[in-house]
Amino acid sequence: MAKHKKDSGKKISDYFDEDPNRVNELALSWESFYVDYSKNLLDKETIDLLISMAHEAGLEKAIKSYFEGENINETENRAVLHTALRQLNPASIEIHGDDILPKIELVKKQMFDFADQVISGDWKGYTGKAIRHIVNIGIGGSDLGPAMVTEALAFYGNHLDVTFVSNVEGDHVEEVIKKIDPETTLFIIVSKSFTTQETLSNANTLRKWFLNQAPESAISNHFIAVSTHLKMVTQFGISEENIFPMNDWVGGRFSLWSTVGLSICLAIGPKHFEDLLSGAGKMDQHFRTADFHENIPVILALITVWYNNFWEVETEAIIPYSQYLRSLPAYLQQAIMESNGKGVDRNGEVVKYQTGNIIWGASGTNAQHAFFQLMHQGTKMIPADFIGFAKPLHQGNDHQDKLMSNFFAQTQALMQGKNAEAVRKELSNQGISAEKIEALVPFKVFEGNRPTNTIFIEQLTPNNLGALIAMYEHRIFVQGVIWNIFSYDQWGVELGKQLANNILKDFEEEALGHHDPSTRKLIQHYKKFRN
Ligand code: F6P
Repeated sequence: MAKHKKDSGKKISDYFDEDPNRVNELALSWESFYVDYSKNLLDKETIDLLISMAHEAGLEKAIKSYFEGENINETENRAVLHTALRQLNPASIEIHGDDILPKIELVKKQMFDFADQVISGDWKGYTGKAIRHIVNIGIGGSDLGPAMVTEALAFYGNHLDVTFVSNVEGDHVEEVIKKIDPETTLFIIVSKSFTTQETLSNANTLRKWFLNQAPESAISNHFIAVSTHLKMVTQFGISEENIFPMNDWVGGRFSLWSTVGLSICLAIGPKHFEDLLSGAGKMDQHFRTADFHENIPVILALITVWYNNFWEVETEAIIPYSQYLRSLPAYLQQAIMESNGKGVDRNGEVVKYQTGNIIWGASGTNAQHAFFQLMHQGTKMIPADFIGFAKPLHQGNDHQDKLMSNFFAQTQALMQGKNAEAVRKELSNQGISAEKIEALVPFKVFEGNRPTNTIFIEQLTPNNLGALIAMYEHRIFVQGVIWNIFSYDQWGVELGKQLANNILKDFEEEALGHHDPSTRKLIQHYKKFRN
C-alpha cells in the first residue's frame, strides 16, 4: 500500500499533532464499550483504505453467508452457526431445509432445567447427597472456553466448585482426584467428536476411580456427556437422558455458547448464562449491521491486518487488566491461531503473504512485571490490546484507581516513550553527575511509538464478557476473509495425533527403524526409564 510507504517514518505522536480531532475520529462507543484505536500507526485515510480492501474482498457478502448458515467451513462441508445459539430475537435458520431454531430452544431448556436441578440440590448423587463438585473433562474448545468463562465470571458463581481436567498427562487427572468426593461430584465429559484421546483417557480413568467406590448403577447420577456422537457416548456407558447434544455447525473453539458451556451454566446459573448469550447476541447484531467505519470487530481486524501484512509484525499481545480474565489470552490463542494459522488459500494455493499472527499475553498489572520490558525497549514491535473495566466487582477498597492508572499509563508510555533530553533532565534533577548521566542515557531512553488498542468496558458482567468474546470471534472471521483462508477447519492438528498413535504402538515394539534417528533415540531413551 502506497500509504504505508508514505507514512512509514511517521510517529503516532505526529498523527496526534496533525489532527486535533484524532481521538474522537479513531474511537468507537458502543453499548458500554469504548474502543480507542487512536494510539496506532495509522490515520483516517489508512482506515478508509483498509475498509476499501475489505469491500473488495467481499466482506459484506461473506458476513451474510456466515450468519445465514451457508457451508462456509468448506473443507469440512459445514455451516458455522454458533451465532444461532445467541440470537436476540430468535429467527428461524434453515440448514439443508431444516429449521434449527426449535431444536436450539429445546436443548437450551434441557440444559437450563438440568442446571437448576443441580444448583438447587434436587439432583442427587448415588448416596442421596447434593452435588458440590463439577469436573469438566474435555480439551481444546471443550475446555478452554468453559474454563476461561467460569474463571472470568467467578464473581457470579454459586456454591458449586468447578474443576477442569484436560491434559492426557496422568498427573493432571490424579491431582483432580485428590480434590473430589465420589458422592458429591458430577463429571461432564465434553467432546464434540467423542474420539479425542485426552478426553476419553481422562473419562475412563475417572470412571474407573468412581466405580472403585460406587456401584455401576451410580453412573447415571454422576456422568453426563456433551457430544455430537450420541452412539459413541451410549457405548461409553452414559444413558441417553444424560447426553446433551451439540451440532456439527458449532466449531469446537466457538462452542462455549452451546451445551459445551454446561459447566459455565452450572457455575453461574441459567440467568447469568442467558446474559452471556445476549451480550454476544448484541455484538453479533452490531457486527452484522454497523457500517464498517463504526464496526468494532471490523476495525480491530483491519488494524491487525495493517500490522501483520504491511508492517510485517508477527505477534499481538492481549493484556486484560483483570485477574478474572487471566485465561483470556490462552483461550484466544486457540480461537485465533487454530482458526487463522493457515498457509493455503481458499483455492488450495500456498499463500504469498502472511496470515494468522501469534497471540500471547497475560493479565495486567502482572504482565508489567514480566514481559513489558521487551514491549517498551525491545527490538520488536508488538501491537497490543489493553482490555480494562471502569468499575470493579468488589467495592470498598482503594485498588481500582491504582489499577486504572496503570492501565492508562502503559499505553501512554508505549506511545510517548521518553527521549534523551527528558532522561537527562530527570537524572540531573536527582543530582547525578554529567558524566554518569551520559553513560546512563541510552539505557533509559524509551523510543515509544508502540501501538495499542484500548478496549475499555464499564464492568465485567456476563453480558459484557459475551460481547467481548463475540467481538474477537468476528475479528477472526474478518481476517480470514481478507486473507482468503478457511478459518473454521483445523487440519494442522491431525498429523501430530496420527504420529502419536503410531509411537504409542511402538513402545511395545523392538524394531524402531522406521522412525527418524532423533525420534528413534528419544523413544529408546524413554523405554530405558519405562521398563
Ligand atoms: O485440537 C483439535 C481439536 O479438534 C479442537 O478443535 C477441539 O476444540 C479439540 O480438539 C477437542 O475436540 P473434541 O471436542 O472433539 O474432543
